[in-house]
Amino acid sequence: MSSIDRYLQSEADRFEEELCQLLRIPSISADPRHRDDVRRAADWVAGQFLQLEFATEVIPTTGHPLVYAESTPLPGVPTVLVYGHYDVQPADPLDQWISPPFEPTRRDGNLYARGATDDKGQMLTHVKSAQAWIQTRGRLPLNLKFLIEGEEEVGSEGLEQFIAQNASRLECDCVVISDGSQFAPGQPAITYGLRGIACYELRLTGPDRDLHSGSFGGSVTNPANALAGMLAGLIDDQGKVRIPGFYDDVRPLSDRECKELASLDFDEQIYLRQIGVEAATGESGYTILQRRWTRPTFDLNGLSSGYQGQGAKTIIPATAVAKLSFRLVPDQDPQKITAGLNRRLDELCPPGIKWQLDALHGSPGVLIPLDSPYVEAAARAIEHAFGRRPVFTREGGSIPIVGSFHDALKVDTLLLGWGQDDDNTHSPNEKLSLADFHRGIKASAQLWEELGKIAD
Ligand code: BES
Ligand code: MN
Ligand code: MN
Repeated sequence: MSSIDRYLQSEADRFEEELCQLLRIPSISADPRHRDDVRRAADWVAGQFLQLEFATEVIPTTGHPLVYAESTPLPGVPTVLVYGHYDVQPADPLDQWISPPFEPTRRDGNLYARGATDDKGQMLTHVKSAQAWIQTRGRLPLNLKFLIEGEEEVGSEGLEQFIAQNASRLECDCVVISDGSQFAPGQPAITYGLRGIACYELRLTGPDRDLHSGSFGGSVTNPANALAGMLAGLIDDQGKVRIPGFYDDVRPLSDRECKELASLDFDEQIYLRQIGVEAATGESGYTILQRRWTRPTFDLNGLSSGYQGQGAKTIIPATAVAKLSFRLVPDQDPQKITAGLNRRLDELCPPGIKWQLDALHGSPGVLIPLDSPYVEAAARAIEHAFGRRPVFTREGGSIPIVGSFHDALKVDTLLLGWGQDDDNTHSPNEKLSLADFHRGIKASAQLWEELGKIAD
C-alpha cells in the first residue's frame, strides 16, 4: 500500500468529522435568511485551503462568494481546475427528515445531511486528497486550482461573470468535477454528458381581485383553470413537447450510443422501486436511460393559485403562477426555447387572461469527448480506488458551468460522480455512503498521480 493510501486510512475518521463540520452550516443559497450561513461555509472552505498553504481568496460576487485557491505553482506539470459547490438546496419538507438536515447523522454506513452528496461531501474528496499528497510527499504531483462556488443551486451568476473576466487566471489542462452519481452501487462511472436546462416562471392574471366563484363563475376565465390548460398544451400524450422548433436542434442518438446505453446493466423494476413509482412513462419510442440522459423534457416544478388552507373556499383566484423547466440536450439553445415558448403561450392563452413569462436561468447541455488521455487517467484512478473499471454514462441533471468552462477556457471536464442515484439529492434524507466518500478521496489522490504524468 502506498504512503498516501496509508495516510487516507489513518485519517479517515478526521475526514468524516470535517465533512460533518461543513454539513452543519445551513448554506442554503436560495434563501436570503441564510446569507450569513452561506458566507460561513465559504470561510470554512477557504480555511481548508489555507491549511494547505494554497494562495486562497474568498471573492465577493453580486450574490454569494466564490472560494478560489491555487497550489504553489510547479513548472513542467499539468494544471487541473477542480470545481465544486458549497451551497445547498433548501431542506424542506422538514417533517420528512429522519434526522435533522443540518445535524449530520450516520446510519447504515451512510452520512445523512443536506449537502452530503450534493456537493459538500463530493467536493471535499478533492481537498482531502490534496492534503494527503502534501502531508505524505511534501508536494502535489501537478498544479491544482480550486474554484468552489456558493450559487450553483441558484444559477451560478457570480461564477459566470468571474470566469468571463478571469479566463487567463483559470488557465488549465482540464477541469475535474465530482457532483453526480456512479452508475450503481459497486459500479463507478465517468459521465460524458449532462443535460442543459431552461427555467421559467409563468404568471397569469385574470380579474383584478379574487371573485366569488358562484356569483361570477362561468362568465370569466379562471386563471387557475387557464394555467392548467396552457400547461397541458405544452406536452402531448406521446410525451413530446409542443413548442415550435423545440426538437429542431436535438441531435439524434447514434446507433453506437444506443447500443452502449443498452449494454449497461439497468433494471427497470429496481429503478422504479427505488423511487416509489409503479410505472415508467415518458416520450414514446425511447428507453428509460435514453429518456433520462439523452432526450429533452418538460416539467412543472411548482404551482400556486387560490386557496391553499384547510377545507374548501369557493373563489376564482385573481392570479395563478407556475414554475416550469425544460431539460435540454446538446445543441438546443435556451434562448430559442424561450422564443418558441412565448409563441406557444400566446396561442394557448384564453381570452380574459394576461400572461407574463420570466426566463430564469438557462444553460445548454454538454457532451464530453471520451478519447482523451485525461479520461484514461481518470479510469485508472477510479479502478484503483473502487476495484472496478468505470462505465461511461450521461446524466439527466445539469451543471451549467461545464459549458462555460469549455467556451471560456477551451478545456474539457472530467465528471467523476461519487454519489448514488438513491442519495436523495434535493430531497429529504439526503445521504452519502461513507465508503463512497473514502473511495472518492482515494480515487482523487490517484487521479493527481495519473494526471501529473500526462505530458503537454
Ligand atoms: N449536482 C447537481 C447536478 C446533477 C444532478 C448532476 C444529478 C448529475 C446528476 C447540481 O447541484 C444541480 O442540482 N444542478 C441543478 C442546476 C440548476 C439549478 C441550474 C439541476 O440540475 O437542477
Ligand atoms: Mn451539485
Ligand atoms: Mn443540486
